[in-house]
Amino acid sequence: MADIHRALDGRTSTVLVHRSGTGVAGTVMVGYDGHRGWVYYVAVRRADRGRGIGRALLTAAEDWLRERGAVKVQLMVRHGNDVGAYYEQLGYADVGATTYGKWLTGP
Ligand SMILES: CC(C)(COP(=O)(O)OP(=O)(O)OC[C@H]1O[C@@H](n2cnc3c(N)ncnc32)[C@H](O)[C@@H]1OP(=O)(O)O)[C@@H](O)C(=O)NCCC(=O)NCCS
Repeated sequence: MADIHRALDGRTSTVLVHRSGTGVAGTVMVGYDGHRGWVYYVAVRRADRGRGIGRALLTAAEDWLRERGAVKVQLMVRHGNDVGAYYEQLGYADVGATTYGKWLTGP
């Protein structure tokens, strides 16, 4: 939750929500670091998958970034998550980079 609050508090990031009649059906966190746009935590409630909500969330995130001047959007996929083909049919491509991370405060 803390990272969601940080994203909502910042001027360069937000969390977009897709609501259905029964509550929150999907979310995506989006941020622009001045060089690239990034999306995180793309997720759709299991019962609502396959209805285009994931696509709509990504389109909304891309529009949010375009409005702020971002020219490229990137995302990370954890090893073992076979979601790559999903992103490819939405126009995303493996950029051939490995991401390294380091905690600055502890996990
Ligand atoms: C990936 C996810 C966001 C897709 O959301 P969604 O709302 O179901 O997606 P859409 O309705 O926009 O698209 C559905 C289409 O994508 C396809 N698709 C869904 N998951 C896929 C996958 N892992 N690989 C390939 N295709 C996939 C579906 O078969 C469907 O195809 P169709 O339109 O030809 O029937 C959703 O499955 C999810 O929340 N997954 C768990 C969280 C996750 O892994 N997120 C990604 C983190 S990087």
